[in-house]
Amino acid sequence: DKLAVIIPAAGVGSRMQAQVPKQYIPLLGKPILVHTLEKLAKLDGVEQFMVAVSKEDSYFTTSLLPDSRFGHCDGGKERADSVLLALRALASSKPDWVLVHDAARPLVALEDIHHLIAKCVNEGQGGILAARVKDTIKCGAELVQKTVPRESLWQAFTPQMFKYEELLAALELGLAQGANITDEASAMELQKKPVQLIAARTDNIKITTPEDLPLAEFIIQQQGK
Ligand code: CTP
Ligand code: MG
Repeated sequence: DKLAVIIPAAGVGSRMQAQVPKQYIPLLGKPILVHTLEKLAKLDGVEQFMVAVSKEDSYFTTSLLPDSRFGHCDGGKERADSVLLALRALASSKPDWVLVHDAARPLVALEDIHHLIAKCVNEGQGGILAARVKDTIKCGAELVQKTVPRESLWQAFTPQMFKYEELLAALELGLAQGANITDEASAMELQKKPVQLIAARTDNIKITTPEDLPLAEFIIQQQGK
């Protein structure tokens, strides 16, 4: 089976409130985007990598790409638009499967990605890395309305892996309907497609706000030991 990897990296990082889009902030001296790409480049059996980059991005250069399997394309307005544009950019190579991983998640464990790929290929069904919710979850605004039972709640991470043709169709349909699609799985769910939940390490954080930066550096140092 042919596998391609898409890295959405076309966001502005508004919640980080930094001078540069958050994927260019250095962790231990190296940009977050480069950490992520170098991690993914260690995956065997990937034919092509496609990085979605904003048209307004003045920080990107192809010298950030680890090897010749990596290409880049324009991103879109929302994350789902960026992923759809990257899928279209891969059309000529027609991969069987596509794995989508946020540029903002440099800490993912290769072991967890291998596990996800094996599960999807063996079951013939898409899936996502995820973790059971640890905290008690409240619903409300200023006051608590209720506590949401957490027994069936999961946090969705990336990578998320699906059959190329199915994800392409699901994103096209979902975006055309104006649905709120914040990950690949939500597009597949709208089309009533199964999504496997693959339990993963919880240190696969999406670097989002300033307090994530020292935490991410600490985790990288621990992983290197
Ligand atoms: N992303 C993208 N295209 C967009 C928006 C987001 O490719 N139009 C990417 C981001 O670069 C990031 C990933 O999707 O790697 C996850 O998005 P998020 O963490 O929300 O990043 P930003 O949108 O950049 O951050 P914020 O929402 O705080 O502005
Ligand atoms: Mg965002």
